[in-house]
Amino acid sequence: MGAKAGSDIQATAKRPIPPGFENAHVTPQIYAERYAASIRDPETFWAEEGKRLDWIKPYTKVKNTTFEYGKVSIRWYEDGVLNVAANCIDRHLEKRGDQVAIIWEPDDPNAPERRITYRELADKVARMANVLKAHGVAKGDRVVLYLPMIPEAAFAMLACARIGAIHSVVFGGFSPDALANRINDCDAKLVITADTAPRGGRRTPLKSNTDAALLHCDDKVKCLVVKHTGDQTTWIEGRDFDLLAEMEAASPDCPPEPMNAEDPLFILYTSGSTGKPKGVVHTSGGYLVYASMTHQLTFDYRDGDIFWCTADVGWVTGHSYIVYGPLANGATTLMFEGVPTWPDPGRFWAVCEKYKVNQFYTAPTAIRALMGQGSEWVEKYDLSSLRVLGTVGEPINPEAWAWYDKHVGKGRCPIVDTWWQTETGGHMITSLPGAIEAKPGSATLPFFGVKPVVLDPQSGAVIEGNGVEGVLAIADSWPGQMRTVWGDHQRFQDTYFQQYKGYYFTGDGCRRDEDGYYWITGRVDDVINVSGHRMGTAEIESALVAHEKVAEAAVVGYPHPVKGQGIYAYVTLMAGVEPSDELRKELVKWVRQEIGPIASPDLIQFAPGLPKTRSGKIMRRILRKIAENDYGSLGDTSTLADPAVVDDLIANRMNKG
Ligand code: WTA
Repeated sequence: MGAKAGSDIQATAKRPIPPGFENAHVTPQIYAERYAASIRDPETFWAEEGKRLDWIKPYTKVKNTTFEYGKVSIRWYEDGVLNVAANCIDRHLEKRGDQVAIIWEPDDPNAPERRITYRELADKVARMANVLKAHGVAKGDRVVLYLPMIPEAAFAMLACARIGAIHSVVFGGFSPDALANRINDCDAKLVITADTAPRGGRRTPLKSNTDAALLHCDDKVKCLVVKHTGDQTTWIEGRDFDLLAEMEAASPDCPPEPMNAEDPLFILYTSGSTGKPKGVVHTSGGYLVYASMTHQLTFDYRDGDIFWCTADVGWVTGHSYIVYGPLANGATTLMFEGVPTWPDPGRFWAVCEKYKVNQFYTAPTAIRALMGQGSEWVEKYDLSSLRVLGTVGEPINPEAWAWYDKHVGKGRCPIVDTWWQTETGGHMITSLPGAIEAKPGSATLPFFGVKPVVLDPQSGAVIEGNGVEGVLAIADSWPGQMRTVWGDHQRFQDTYFQQYKGYYFTGDGCRRDEDGYYWITGRVDDVINVSGHRMGTAEIESALVAHEKVAEAAVVGYPHPVKGQGIYAYVTLMAGVEPSDELRKELVKWVRQEIGPIASPDLIQFAPGLPKTRSGKIMRRILRKIAENDYGSLGDTSTLADPAVVDDLIANRMNKG
């Protein structure tokens, strides 16, 4: 395996596929043949895959897409009519009405779990859909969900889908301000929330956060509340309604609304390189085809398997691999309300043992956190049911991979490292249990229909061949692709199709090794990845400068042993304000209030000045290097307006953490 001389693009050894996967859905031969077919003739390939769904009116057109800047348009199965909820529920009833669709494991290990069969799911979803209708929600209306990890979150998503309303789930860790911005951006008619959300023994006050958010929203926005913990909340008559009580009283009959394949299914806000989060829009037909197919093939899902994705439904991973993918496939999906380390670091494995989980899908940050607690927490449990392990959200470092493989998978479970994005709807580059041999740290090879290209970051030219490095783009559309930014198609085009004409630009850097395997090297834009959560540095900066004592702020990522990246903030204070540890704490608290706990800066360095070009642009490259403790390669600083600023920044770099 000849690594290029002087290059670090080595072809690391492949890990053979463990025994027992000879009859996997995808074998090496099937992968080779069908991948080639999917690229040669996408129309035929996706026409066939579309049949995995039930269509009210079958499609006659399959693919109608262009990445041409100025004319970007993405349409799949565009004359087909279907209902997503009917595909996730109704069509399974005859064969598996009594099969468990959702297992719910509560935060408190001593509290009772819930098992919801497909028949019960049908009942709950129809009732909730009727409650929504009674509150005036109609096809095309937006509904914001701000919920704990409880089955009602899945019911609510499916209830919206059933009546053609567009849901937008907001992660429970976001602040009232962040919630208000999202409600307003999509002009939601209604918010569904719960009293409080237990996590790791603590409770997030979702309802009072919602109350605070709604102060900044139209008076007409209604609030349906799930009384989950029974905690006391304020109640505004005429605006707040008891959702579970109304479901009891509602009819269990609600015919699914026929939806065009290209009608929006959901909006999910995600951070980009500019301040305001983007409303990523996914539509009905293509998204569900893609979520269902990737769930089945990437995890080698079989009828009867118990599938567990540990993500929160507030992120795309929860949408595609807790709710839509598994339920479209008639799977049993596990939903966990808690956290990996509470009441102790054996919780994940206790849950795997309790329900005999077959596929387990989590984030590298969780693996690293648990690895740090010692393997004895894993060894206590019987994990023999596990067959496939997965990771998502960030590159997995080889040490964490090896630990996951040895202690959790016992060397007999393939690990699928799935690279994808909120924008892509489902897995894009990933190994497959029976077909693609893993290499620790590499997402390996493209999924069916996905055409990755490595581009030269400066010229935008395609870099052919193996043993190369550049930025990652995708050359053609796939059914799970986002269609637009809610309310701003221009921003969609500008973000993804402007810089490299003719391609979807992912924002990630990558290398392709001598075996053609892809290694994601991280974001090349101003997005950072903290504990597998995507954060826009611009968003944190605008929160910081909104504080009265802050004149200017620049935020970058730095390597963090557990989180992957930590948040490093350089802050210039208003004249006359003295830096102090108290002020540091005040600013952290402030950012938590403005955005949410996930955006808390790990390190704040007070800086009298930031490195700027003569035209006033902050040179983030330099700030990144200082945060990374990598002073040797600061690069060209001659364009700085005041080079002395850099010496001061280096002298005062924060070193803890
Ligand atoms: C990163 C999460 C390396 C990447 C599904 C991407 C990864 C961003 C991987 C999307 C992986 C996700 N290996 N990096 N397996 N998976 N990423 O939108 O930088 O929250 O662009 O979607 O996470 O984050 P998002």
